[in-house]
Amino acid sequence: MAEEGGGEYLFKIVVIGDSAVGKSNLLSRFARNEFDHHSKATIGVEFQTQVVEVEGKDVKVQVWDTAGQERFRAVTSAYYRGAVGALIVYDISRKPTFESIKRWLDELNTHCDTAVSRMLVGNKCDLESIREVSVDEGKNLAEEERLFFIETSAFRATNVRKSFEIVIREIY
Ligand code: GTP
Ligand code: MG
Repeated sequence: MAEEGGGEYLFKIVVIGDSAVGKSNLLSRFARNEFDHHSKATIGVEFQTQVVEVEGKDVKVQVWDTAGQERFRAVTSAYYRGAVGALIVYDISRKPTFESIKRWLDELNTHCDTAVSRMLVGNKCDLESIREVSVDEGKNLAEEERLFFIETSAFRATNVRKSFEIVIREIY
């Protein structure tokens, strides 16, 4: 966490998870209230800075988004450097993306200390009819790994703001 002039804090949050789980759309929903049905795979790293009110104070949050695809990823250590929060995202309609969570946690643990506020995010909860990961499976994994847990839909704007706010509040 970097302290800027005037005692204002800048919180860095990283978003990780397999390709096409909806990381970029969670970020665009959070930062600009936008959703893209045809978003392209992220190449390298993107970030957005956003001011969020926590307990009556403005907190500056920088959310970092990178490629889920290995070949498009930038230098990993730089991506994680200084992060105080992490959203680890899977797609509730694709079980393999849930099975990857352990691998993403390993990577996070390699690069960040355990103090990082972590949220397991089951995205695309609007796709109930083709769900492959139950709410309980998500909850149980979160409990085992000591993570917060939430299901979101970037498409329907369900719980997106809340997922970021819980992580930010925990850091704050
Ligand atoms: P990479 O950049 O390759 O790592 O992918 P990503 O995790 O950033 O995924 P992205 O946000 O680009 O979304 C992938 C696809 O899923 C796009 O077609 C989105 O429109 C779609 N999508 C994202 N979030 C949701 C959601 O909540 N519900 C539904 N139904 N589709 C979603
Ligand atoms: Mg992306």
